[in-house]
Amino acid sequence: MIVESFSKTLQTWYLNNKRDLPWRNCTDPYKIWLSEVILQQTRVNQGLPYYIKFVEQYPTVQDLANAEEEAVLKLWQGLGYYSRARNLHAAAKMVLEKFDGVFPNTFANLIQLKGVGQYTASAIASFSNKEAVAVVDGNVYRVIARIFGIFTPINSTEGIKEFQALANTLLDNEMPDIHNQAIMEFGALQCTPKKPNCMYCPFSNECYAYQNAALDQLPEKIKKTKITTKHLNYMLVENNLEILISKRSGKGIWQHLYEFPLIESSKAITATTLGTKIQELFNLANIPSITLMHINEKAHKLSHQHLFASFWKISIPKKDFALLKENYIATSKNEIYKYPIPVLISNFLKLELL
Ligand code: ADE
Repeated sequence: MIVESFSKTLQTWYLNNKRDLPWRNCTDPYKIWLSEVILQQTRVNQGLPYYIKFVEQYPTVQDLANAEEEAVLKLWQGLGYYSRARNLHAAAKMVLEKFDGVFPNTFANLIQLKGVGQYTASAIASFSNKEAVAVVDGNVYRVIARIFGIFTPINSTEGIKEFQALANTLLDNEMPDIHNQAIMEFGALQCTPKKPNCMYCPFSNECYAYQNAALDQLPEKIKKTKITTKHLNYMLVENNLEILISKRSGKGIWQHLYEFPLIESSKAITATTLGTKIQELFNLANIPSITLMHINEKAHKLSHQHLFASFWKISIPKKDFALLKENYIATSKNEIYKYPIPVLISNFLKLELL
C-alpha cells in the first residue's frame, strides 16, 4: 500500500517544504551537472556560492572546456576533493569532442563522462530530461531503509542492488524529476541522520523505523575497520649447529606455534634501532652485528591488520648464546620442521637462506 502511495505523499511534502535553489526549475543539463558535481561530498550551503561563481565564470560548457585547468582549480579552491575539479574540466572537453558541444541529457551518454557515476547520471537525466531513472544517494538510502525497514547494509553489493531496485519501484515515471528532487530533499530536511522530524512526518504511521523505534539502527552499514600494519622482525640467532626458537604464548593468530625470537614494530625498522632493542632484549654487553636477510612484504593479510616480516641474521658471542639457551629453545636447523611453525616461517626456510 505504501509503495503505491509513496511518491504522491512525498511530492506533496516537497511542494510544501522545498528550498528554492538555483539549479531547480532549470532544465539545462550543463548547469545541473555543475550543481551535482559541486554538491558531491559538499553541503548545499557550502556549495551554493561555488555554483554561482562557476555559472558566472563559465556560462556554457564551451567556456569551461576552453579554460585553463589551473583557472578551474583556482575557482574550486576551498571545496576540497580536487579530482572533482579536474574531472569537471576533462568532462567538459569530452562534451566538445564526443558530443559536438551539446551537453548530453540521457543516462546512457551522461554515464560516459568523467566523474559521472550512477547517481549523477540519474540526477541529470531525470532533472533535465524527465528520464525515468531513480537517484540513490546517502539521503535516499536513509529514507528508504527507515520507512521500509531494510536492514541490508547500504555499502554491501547486495544492499546497493536492493536499494536501487526499490528506488526504481517507488519512482513516479511521469514525474521522475520532481520525485527525485523530493526524495533527496526529504532526506536532507525531514528524515535527517540525527533527530529526524518524525512528529510532523507524513510517513510516520507506516514508517518501520518510527513504529519500531529503530531510527538509530537504520540505515545499516558494514563497519570498515581501519587496517593497521605491523612489522615482525625475526632474529636468526645461531651458532654452527643450532638456532634459537621459542613458543608463542598469549592469544593471537599463531598462539602456541614456534618462531624465531621476535621484535615487533609498527613501522619498518633500521638495523641500528633493532640493534639497540636486541641488546636490551637479550641483555648483551654490546650491540650485536646484524644483517638483513629477507623481507616479506606480503607476510600475512588479516581483516584489520597487514603483517610485514623481516628476517635478520644476528651474530652474538658464544657465551651469550649459551646463556640464551635458558630462555629459548636451541634446535638444529634441520629439526625446525618438526615444530609447528607459521607458514610465513616455513616459506622463509624454503628459501634456504639459513
Ligand atoms: N544534493 C545533491 N544534489 C542535490 C540537489 N539537486 N538538490 C539539493 N541537494 C542536493
